[in-house]
Amino acid sequence: MNVTSTQPARILVGVSGGIAAYKAVALVRRLVEAGCEVRVVMTEAATRFVTPLSFQAVSGHPVRTTLLDAEAESGMDHIALARWSDAVVVAPASADLMARLANGLADDLLTTLCLATSAPVHLAPTMNRQMWAHPATQANRARLVEHGVTLLGPAAGAQACGETGEGRMLEPEAIVAALLVGARQDLAGRHVVVTAGGTREPIDPVRFIANRSSGRMGFALAAEAVRRGAAVTLIAGPSALPTPTGVERVDVETARQMQAAVESIASMDIFVGAAAVADYRVAAPADRKLKKSGETLSLELVPNPDIIREVASRTDRPFVIGFAAETDHLREHAAAKREAKGMDLICANEVGADKGFDRPDNALLLLWGDGERELPQADKRHLAGEIFDTYHQITQD
Ligand code: PMT
Repeated sequence: MNVTSTQPARILVGVSGGIAAYKAVALVRRLVEAGCEVRVVMTEAATRFVTPLSFQAVSGHPVRTTLLDAEAESGMDHIALARWSDAVVVAPASADLMARLANGLADDLLTTLCLATSAPVHLAPTMNRQMWAHPATQANRARLVEHGVTLLGPAAGAQACGETGEGRMLEPEAIVAALLVGARQDLAGRHVVVTAGGTREPIDPVRFIANRSSGRMGFALAAEAVRRGAAVTLIAGPSALPTPTGVERVDVETARQMQAAVESIASMDIFVGAAAVADYRVAAPADRKLKKSGETLSLELVPNPDIIREVASRTDRPFVIGFAAETDHLREHAAAKREAKGMDLICANEVGADKGFDRPDNALLLLWGDGERELPQADKRHLAGEIFDTYHQITQD
């Protein structure tokens, strides 16, 4: 087991073309003053309003403007930059940038990064009020929200074009507050424990039984809980995902290690079982690599402990949120699972080829004592927020 420590927030600031680009310089300064590490990426149009040198001076790092820059790519390439970020904020976000992102275009460095990152993406839209109100922009806005993007603003007021209305970029201080403090601190003072990813059950020293879970759902829940002010412990099966800022991560491999890690936490307010825990393990894993004999090979499997059931039966039990991964009869199986394992809330998802596992998005059916809620296909980061909103709805606090 290995516990990863927390680091300063790493924020990627994207700047697209617009008169408000000058305000992005103040935004970067405020983020640096708040202790963040900041990297800036500008679109070609943005460089006509403010020079990259201004952003380099305030961020302390060279500014990237093109995707195919061999020299820059030999340092931190664009995929490494996407992975490096804890959060991406595009300010100002022009109508054109929103349209390109809503349609999944990756025709410059900034849009490519927004597609390639697993970090939350925030946009601070800025444009003339008519452009903002146009049905095409509003459709793009709705689509981006569906994809899990968070919109910060726009604000209303006097515009650079001389008109007055909705379309002004939020002030840098408001963007910093939304990014660093989180929209709501409604989990402040709570300890949230999240399990994520799949487990590996060894067959011999080099082979194991595993599943397709990437950890995305659990990591998104951990990041969202931190954003809302909780102290978060993330117990993760093998996953390549970066640790969300502010989260204490405990890495495990097997179901029994995951059980031990959960058991060692004496006090928790909310437990979220998003991990795909193997129901069975090999009774006696070989201590040497199994040799091919040409004969049929049988493995004896024994049941693993049920982690979530154990948590739900503690005397001082937390609020328990579990998942149900089903290929059929979603509602019936999930309702029975909730009952059998003693969960307060179950998030049921259909799984199969290209569904549920190892994707950035999902659809969920939430079931609890006397209620239910359908969450249509959306980014897992967006679903994480909806799950905690539902927790508040159920507990009414
Ligand atoms: O990680 P991703 O790629 O983002 O994919 C997300 C997901 C599909 C893994 C996630 O949405 C999900 O469904 N997670 C639960 C998967 C699962 O194992 O479901 P289950 O129906 O087998 O288990 C029901 C519940 O019991 C789950 O909360 C599970 O964590 C828990 N469990 C199961 C077995 C066990 N031995 N101990 C447990 O705690």
